[in-house]
Amino acid sequence: MNATAISCSNIAFIKYWGNTDPELRLAANPSLSMNLADLTVTATVQFHADFPADTLTINGKSVTGGAAKRVFRQMDIIRANAGFAHHARIATESNFPAGAGIASSAAAFSALAVAGATAAGLSLSEAELSALARRGSGSACRSVPAGFAQWPAGGADETSFAESIAPAGHWNLVDIVAIVSAKHKTVGSTGGHALADTSALQAARVATAAERFIAAKEAVLAKDLPALGPVIEEDTVLMHGVMMTSRPPLFYWQPATLAVIHAARRWRADGIPVYFTIDAGPNVHLICERPHADAVESLARALPGVQKTMRSGVGGGTQIINGECNYSGIRDKVTN
Ligand code: PMV
Repeated sequence: MNATAISCSNIAFIKYWGNTDPELRLAANPSLSMNLADLTVTATVQFHADFPADTLTINGKSVTGGAAKRVFRQMDIIRANAGFAHHARIATESNFPAGAGIASSAAAFSALAVAGATAAGLSLSEAELSALARRGSGSACRSVPAGFAQWPAGGADETSFAESIAPAGHWNLVDIVAIVSAKHKTVGSTGGHALADTSALQAARVATAAERFIAAKEAVLAKDLPALGPVIEEDTVLMHGVMMTSRPPLFYWQPATLAVIHAARRWRADGIPVYFTIDAGPNVHLICERPHADAVESLARALPGVQKTMRSGVGGGTQIINGECNYSGIRDKVTN
């Protein structure tokens, strides 16, 4: 009763912000994302009748409190499904900083869902695993399927899951993350989702999200960056507009965040097709095609306020790397 899974982080092109059901983490709007091959979390879950309690280590350190409870709740769902009460020993390792707007929870909860379900001997479909990942963190459902994934709004527990619209090899997009701060954010996304409806702008953002989702999906399928770019930038600024006008307001941006936004617009005017998107944190994801990635990365590194960059091509779906695997998700991974 032991399994290890590896999962990619993902970056949303159309953002999920706000829930129709916070407990089930059903989304207020449809979202669309790309898995990040090189920003991964590995999770190992072991169930045993002799374990006196659930335990969690993250990057080798024992963790208790809220973060651990959230993981144990996901294990409760798995145990209820499997029909046993054994406690779990859980360990996760990530290769990127947590809580800084690079979706560490997405990679972690998708890896935990697949490792946990496999360790429990459950035989779940990709859709069921995606729905299980969603219970830990909404965006985690999009890291289970490969490549570019869509997650519809609303629905119910069984119908709210993500699916792939194109495999990792479909398009050579690269995400260069300009890290302006690697500090853990003070208000996490769970708290942020709960505030979304306090903003006068959320209703307008949600009402127009489907249009942006369709435009972004068509642009991804057509591999058309000049069509995708303006939509993802608008969607990001709309989400941060909601955040900044919530009660109380959430200001994730730092001065250097805005400096990177302006720089991306300048580089574009100079002929480099690069577009920005930002999650619930200060770091800026610069999206471009592979031939421009070296130039974008060295320009980003040279900007004052950028501490370092991280770079990733498009990733595959969550994979079991040991243990009995009943899951046959798409296993392609492309590193650009
Ligand atoms: O999955 P959560 O609850 O961490 O929310 C993710 C929210 C954003 O990263 C800001 C947007 C998204 O769709 O990934």
